[in-house]
Amino acid sequence: MDTTASVDLGHIESTLQPRLGSHAAVVCCSALSGDVDHLTPDERATVACALIQRQREFASGRMAARAAMRRLGVPTSSVPSNLDRSPRWPEGLVGSISHCRTACVAVVAQSGHWSSVGIDLEPDTGLASELWSAICTPQELQKVSRMPEHDRCRWVLRVFCAKEAYYKWVYPHIRSMLDFQDVNIDMDASLEDGVFRVNPLAPRARNATPDGLEGTLISRQGLVLSMMIH
Ligand SMILES: CC(C)(COP(=O)(O)OP(=O)(O)OC[C@H]1O[C@@H](n2cnc3c(N)ncnc32)[C@H](O)[C@@H]1OP(=O)(O)O)[C@@H](O)C(=O)NCCC(=O)NCCS
Repeated sequence: MDTTASVDLGHIESTLQPRLGSHAAVVCCSALSGDVDHLTPDERATVACALIQRQREFASGRMAARAAMRRLGVPTSSVPSNLDRSPRWPEGLVGSISHCRTACVAVVAQSGHWSSVGIDLEPDTGLASELWSAICTPQELQKVSRMPEHDRCRWVLRVFCAKEAYYKWVYPHIRSMLDFQDVNIDMDASLEDGVFRVNPLAPRARNATPDGLEGTLISRQGLVLSMMIH
């Protein structure tokens, strides 16, 4: 089902923006709003060989990122991709981009105030139980086993979403891949909006992560969104 029309993207922005303060900006847009003609030449080169759907997704992320730059009051710039696919933010800025089939979100922040940002957006459909042991640590799985059965798939999706945001947050600090077993997410056994705490188990991630680092997790109209900024 295409829920684009029913997703209140403004509501997502107005929930997240107060948590960011004035040195960071969030913009959500429809995943269909990306216009490849608005990409800069180096951005366009990144997706030149990709399918049109992927080009549009990429373009919607860049449109959201530039809209966030405008909101921050900084000049809009190109955001090409590095070879590892991470976005290359212009001098003075850090940020993060996520898209799913219906929506796209970008957070851009001033690097003098924030070291990194991570954001992830997922449809709130839950994760099939066959995937739980790959995504969850034994500690997280124990929590799942104590939850009401009807909440489990959607709670594990929230763990997944939190780990993706943390991965994007930590990546610029460690420049290496993390496995889902390398990080423990500590959050209430509930589907309500709230915070999650990250407990990295891999030494390289632990060394790069402040104690008690927290992220925000919200769900709105069929989407789950996680965000870390520090
Ligand atoms: C990179 C990754 C997180 C992308 O997530 P996704 O659900 O496929 O897609 P999303 O739309 O949420 O995010 C994609 C965007 O993330 C950004 N991104 C890609 N790699 C990144 C990285 N290494 N660091 C930070 N941001 C990255 C890009 O902006 C990308 O969009 P773009 O290619 O259009 O620019 C995921 O595919 C991945 O490789 N994960 C590695 C394993 C992992 O997550 N481990 C978690 C352990 S804690």
